[in-house]
Amino acid sequence: MSLSILTLVGSLSLFSVVNASPAPGPAPSPAPAPVPAPQALSSLSSAFSSATGAVASALPTVIGDWPSLSDIEDKLDLSDDDLANISISGLLIPSYANFTNNAWNVRFYGLAYKLPNISTSDLDSIINDLQTDNLNQTQEALLQNRTQDLASIPVPHANFTAIISANGSTVTNSSGIQLATADDAGEFDQFVPIQGLNQNFTSTEVVSTAILNVTGPGNGTAILVPTSGISIVSDIDDVMRITKVYVPNQGLFNSFVQPYVNVPGIPELFNKWFHTLPGVAFHYDTTTPVELTRTYVDYLFSNFPVGSLEMRPINISDPTQILEARQNSLLKLFQTFPQRKFVLVGDTSSSTLLSAYPQIAQQFPNQIACIFIRNTSATDSDDKIPYSTKEFQSLDPNRYFFYRTADDLSQLDIAVGQCRDQNVPQNITFGEQGGVLGNNSGTLHVISGWEWRVWVMTVLVSVVLGTAAL
Ligand SMILES: *[C@@H]1O[C@H](CO)[C@@H](O)[C@H](O)[C@H]1NC(C)=O
Ligand SMILES: *[C@@H]1O[C@H](CO)[C@@H](O)[C@H](O)[C@H]1NC(C)=O
Ligand SMILES: *[C@@H]1O[C@H](CO)[C@@H](O)[C@H](O)[C@H]1NC(C)=O
Ligand SMILES: *[C@@H]1O[C@H](CO)[C@@H](O)[C@H](O)[C@H]1NC(C)=O
Ligand SMILES: *[C@@H]1O[C@H](CO)[C@@H](O)[C@H](O)[C@H]1NC(C)=O
Ligand SMILES: *[C@@H]1O[C@H](CO)[C@@H](O)[C@H](O)[C@H]1NC(C)=O
Ligand SMILES: *[C@@H]1O[C@H](CO)[C@@H](O)[C@H](O)[C@H]1NC(C)=O
Ligand SMILES: *[C@@H]1O[C@H](CO)[C@@H](O)[C@H](O)[C@H]1NC(C)=O
Ligand SMILES: *[C@@H]1O[C@H](CO)[C@@H](O)[C@H](O)[C@H]1NC(C)=O
Ligand SMILES: *[C@@H]1O[C@H](CO)[C@@H](O)[C@H](O)[C@H]1NC(C)=O
Ligand SMILES: *[C@@H]1O[C@H](CO)[C@@H](O)[C@H](O)[C@H]1NC(C)=O
Ligand SMILES: *[C@@H]1O[C@H](CO)[C@@H](O)[C@H](O)[C@H]1NC(C)=O
Repeated sequence: MSLSILTLVGSLSLFSVVNASPAPGPAPSPAPAPVPAPQALSSLSSAFSSATGAVASALPTVIGDWPSLSDIEDKLDLSDDDLANISISGLLIPSYANFTNNAWNVRFYGLAYKLPNISTSDLDSIINDLQTDNLNQTQEALLQNRTQDLASIPVPHANFTAIISANGSTVTNSSGIQLATADDAGEFDQFVPIQGLNQNFTSTEVVSTAILNVTGPGNGTAILVPTSGISIVSDIDDVMRITKVYVPNQGLFNSFVQPYVNVPGIPELFNKWFHTLPGVAFHYDTTTPVELTRTYVDYLFSNFPVGSLEMRPINISDPTQILEARQNSLLKLFQTFPQRKFVLVGDTSSSTLLSAYPQIAQQFPNQIACIFIRNTSATDSDDKIPYSTKEFQSLDPNRYFFYRTADDLSQLDIAVGQCRDQNVPQNITFGEQGGVLGNNSGTLHVISGWEWRVWVMTVLVSVVLGTAAL
């Protein structure tokens, strides 16, 4: 069962260790003020500060490099026969389509994997190891549900056949669409032109996609996006849902144990945009691992307008690739919709966004409507993580805006390019700012929001794996 988490650890440990290593300073513990620890996880959370150093130094030797499929099988104690007997699952991540050469060009983006049958008692024993005895039934079910999905074992080079339906009828012919072979990590990502879909929409339309003959969910959605209009690209954690990635035990608790909670006013704001902006389309972008896609989709689509989703790819083996993954997903959107205007929404606790957004804005200045960054330090005194606004210096100041709450955005007329409310103080230094030590945060600056988040998840996962020397 350890495997469950192995894929995640494999990716995360490398990042956190590599990123933390230039900091010979103290283990990342930037919140000297007592953090209100959720009751049930108190024993775990108190273990965090002492475990950090041990985890950081132990993980590279425990995990080594990116785990291969056979490493994973070994850890799980699965034989090839066992694995062969598990049937294949297919995950389709909600995607989008553009209109090219008289046909909708639909992106098929997803993962081929196997989900071992992990018994409830296995999960229970892990939960006991986590010392989460105080969880109530709802919380325990959520923890089980979310950890189980992390048990996915990627299936390299799978060959899938997909279909598309619109309004309940299959559009593709009876042989379906043969997708390109998945990569070494079981991921596939390609555009396929589809005949037979209605063509001249002025607003987005949702079609259903499905992979044939798989055990797993297999089904997904794609939004057909009109050639022109406004596209909203939004980060999820701490922009749409309250995660508090900047407070370790709370980020953890909110991600794995608690029902997801909306950032107040954002569902209303996004739904208002959905109904008022011309040809609007929503694209959600997160660095959460791809295995948690279904959890995210269930939550997102019941609270926010249907859109596409970008998850963190599985086959990342170098920390710089996380920024690259952000940049690539943005680049793909900008290239796919060259006539659309983009509104980019993020927050100060994500250092990758604070780089990726200004960079894409410089590359495609005519495609930027507005960049909105939620200042999580301004609204949540728990956020002690410094952030850098350096890369915004070269941008047109009328295009970006640091906001605090949904109210700061709700009166803006984005359609005519109004991105700022003069009543909201900006406090932008174009350098490092925020954080408990103010602008001279010394050693803390090496722990950016993203690194912080990764560290948090690494500790969680290593605790689950039993690799943390607690
Ligand atoms: C795999 O399935 C086959 C037939 O369904 C069965 O004979 C075999 O024992 C199974 N192998 C394992 C390791 O369970
Ligand atoms: C999974 O395991 C449980 C008990 O360990 C068993 O009852 C159940 O049938 C198994 N499910 C599958 C799909 O093999
Ligand atoms: C169980 O925990 C959930 C999530 O924190 C909470 O919403 C719910 O009220 C709790 N249920 C009980 C019976 O305490
Ligand atoms: C998790 O819960 C969702 C519904 O809330 C369900 O569809 C899904 O199958 C569950 N996943 C697991 C692995 O139990
Ligand atoms: C998928 O098709 C490719 C090319 O035909 C082939 O090389 C590969 O082995 C196939 N993958 C599987 C899992 O059968
Ligand atoms: C589905 O049907 C509705 C009503 O006829 C139509 O407006 C819409 O364009 C159709 N959607 C697609 C994807 O064809
Ligand atoms: C079905 O679609 C595929 C791919 O678009 C095409 O190659 C094939 O000729 C089509 N078959 C029929 C019967 O239309
Ligand atoms: C597309 O629009 C044209 C006129 O603008 C109309 O004649 C045609 O029926 C529309 N096609 C579809 C598939 O809706
Ligand atoms: C899916 O399974 C059905 C029934 O076993 C089979 O007839 C069909 O050829 C399969 N399709 C694909 C694409 O594998
Ligand atoms: C896939 O199908 C399940 C079960 O019918 C449904 O709950 C889920 O919402 C569907 N997912 C998508 C993305 O359509
Ligand atoms: C549609 O998207 C593809 C893939 O990004 C791109 O190559 C193509 O140029 C786009 N089509 C149009 C009309 O912009
Ligand atoms: C700017 O700083 C002031 C005073 O420190 C604070 O009240 C305000 O919330 C800050 N605004 C933003 C957008 O961070």
